[in-house]
Formats: sequence, structure tokens, C-alpha cells
Amino acid sequence: MILSIESSCDDSSIAITRLSDKKLLFHKKISQDSEHAHYGGVVPELAARLHALALPKILEETRSYFTELKAIAVTNEPGLSVTLVEGISMAKALSIALNLPLMAINHLRGHIYSLFIEKETCFPIDILLVSGGHTQLLHVINYDKIEVLATTMDDSFGESFDKVGKMLGLAYPAGPMIESYAKRGNEKRFDFTIPLLGSKTLAFSYSGLKNQVRLCIEAQENLEEQTICDICASFQRVAVAHVMRQIKKAYKERHVEHFGIVGGASANLYLRREIDTFCKAKKAVLHVALMEFCSDNAAMIGRCAIDAYANKYFTTIDEIKLKSSTKKGYF
Ligand code: KG4
Ligand code: ZN
Repeated sequence: MILSIESSCDDSSIAITRLSDKKLLFHKKISQDSEHAHYGGVVPELAARLHALALPKILEETRSYFTELKAIAVTNEPGLSVTLVEGISMAKALSIALNLPLMAINHLRGHIYSLFIEKETCFPIDILLVSGGHTQLLHVINYDKIEVLATTMDDSFGESFDKVGKMLGLAYPAGPMIESYAKRGNEKRFDFTIPLLGSKTLAFSYSGLKNQVRLCIEAQENLEEQTICDICASFQRVAVAHVMRQIKKAYKERHVEHFGIVGGASANLYLRREIDTFCKAKKAVLHVALMEFCSDNAAMIGRCAIDAYANKYFTTIDEIKLKSSTKKGYF
């Protein structure tokens, strides 16, 4: 069995995954959403202190598996340095105490593997990764070969939902709230412009759209409930339209057999519906993770670690490095 730890942002999570059949035997996550809610984003120092409290509590519950463990896996990049270090320190301590090899798992690769929890992989697969930190279009050939087809020039997809939510006075993370307000809104009321319209680039960009929404909010005399719903619906329509335009551009001449959506924002049903239509048109098989595995979790890190273990991708307590977040390609 592999014990995996995730602490790259504001979710403390530990999982136990069986090597022989990839079964997820234990998975627990303690989210810090309510603690960061009124700051409009994650406060790194607070997040680190909350990980220091939550991770040992979850670890305590995994004690009965200790004698059967074969390796310890931990997210080492990308993420917030001060929170990554909490998980890495715990992983190092476990590796020393239990005399087990250590594996460093890239968080984005982990998101890709959220599609394969308790399943076999189906490579090659094309992936839209939409989270709070990243928006990427990836062509995944295997564990090692991941081509970044497109990435964001500024804000990420999820981040734009969080920032628009903050402007509307919604708590962090605002993605799910915006989706739910949008259901009651008129998506045609505000005519925001789709980012990078007319441009040949495959990149994503959200800062311009965010500014359009800010100007729209400032122009309102009062933000009554229906106006908030209409702004959310109009923003979501354009945010998703931008993703879809870039995807269609990227795959105009490209064959796609398997397509997956991963990351916290892949829980958005409006986005899922649009991707589903795209996959049907392309005759591609759509892969989505279970809702509970869209946002950050250690189960996806554990599943990824199974393939790392098969490849003997071990690291040592001296070699393991942590890197802070970047919006550029990582593979
Ligand atoms: O993958 P994740 O848990 O953390 C990162 O690795 O960043 O993604 C969290 C992000 C947040 O920005 C959150 O607002 C967004 O995913 N999100 C959503 C939805 N659910 C979560 N965005 C849009 N619609 C949703 N339903
Ligand atoms: Zn993530």
C-alpha cells in the first residue's frame, strides 16, 4: 500500500491506496474553505498552520495500515511553499520512521490521475485542467510525456470565478456559488466580450473578462439578487465560451480519442455540458472524475504514485524539492 499526502493549497488530505488492484482503502480530506472564506482567497500562513493541525489528526486514523505500507508519496509542486512544506515534512518523517521509500508527486499530474482512481489509465488522453491555479490543455502520452498545448496568460479559470465572486461579495471559493447563482440568471443580459476573440493564439486569458465584470458591477446602481444572478450567468457563459473556442481551435485538425476534464472547476456542470457536446462532435470518449475527486485530494496523488512506484521513481529526503506555483507548463 501507498500512503499519500496532499497539502499544496487549502485542503489537508491523506489516502491509502493498494498497489495490487489500485483500490482506494482510505481517504480523508479536511478543507479550510470556511477559514479563508471572508479573506476572498487563501491566506498562506493561516493555511500552513491549519495543515499542521489537520494532517496529524488524519494520519492518526491510518495507523492500522502502517505495517503494510510500501512507500510514502507527497505532493511537492506546484503550490504554496509554506503549505507544501507541511506535507513534505510529514512524508519525510514517515519515510524515516517506517524505513520506506519516498515519492514526490507533481500536483497537476495528480489531477490528471483523478480520472483513474480505482481504474486503469487510458493513454493517450487530452486533458483540460481547470483549477484555482491553472488552466491548461494537455496532451498526455504517458506518465512522463505530457505536452502542454495551451496555458493561461494571466488568471486561471477558477481564479476568475473567485475574483468575480469577491467583487460580488461572495465567499471564497466562489466557483460553486457563481454556478448556482447563474442557474437563476439571464446569461444574455450582460454582453461581455469573449477574451482573445479574433486572435490566433491558443492561450487562455481571464484578466480582461474580470475587468469587464468589474466595470459592469461598478455601473450598477444597486446589486439586487436578480442582477447578481444575471452577472454570474453572463460571466459564466463567456468564461466557458472562451475555453470552448480555444479547445475547438486546438483540435480543429487534431484527432482526439479520449478527452478528460480535471481540477476543482471541472465540477462546473455548465462547462461539463459544453465539453460533452464537443466530445460527441469529435466522437471522443469523455472522462470526468467523481465530484469528490475534482478538487484537491490525496486519492489522486496516491493513484498517480502507483505508476510512479511501478517506474521506481523514488526520491530521498535530501533530494526532494518543493517549488512554488507557476502558470507556465510544468512537464
Ligand atoms: O483544483 P482545486 O481544488 O485547487 C487548485 O489546485 O487550485 O480548484 C479550486 C478552484 C477554485 O478556484 C474554485 O472556485 C474552482 O476550483 N471551482 C469552480 C467550481 N467548483 C470549484 N469553478 C467554477 N465552477 C464550479 N462549480
Ligand atoms: Zn489542484
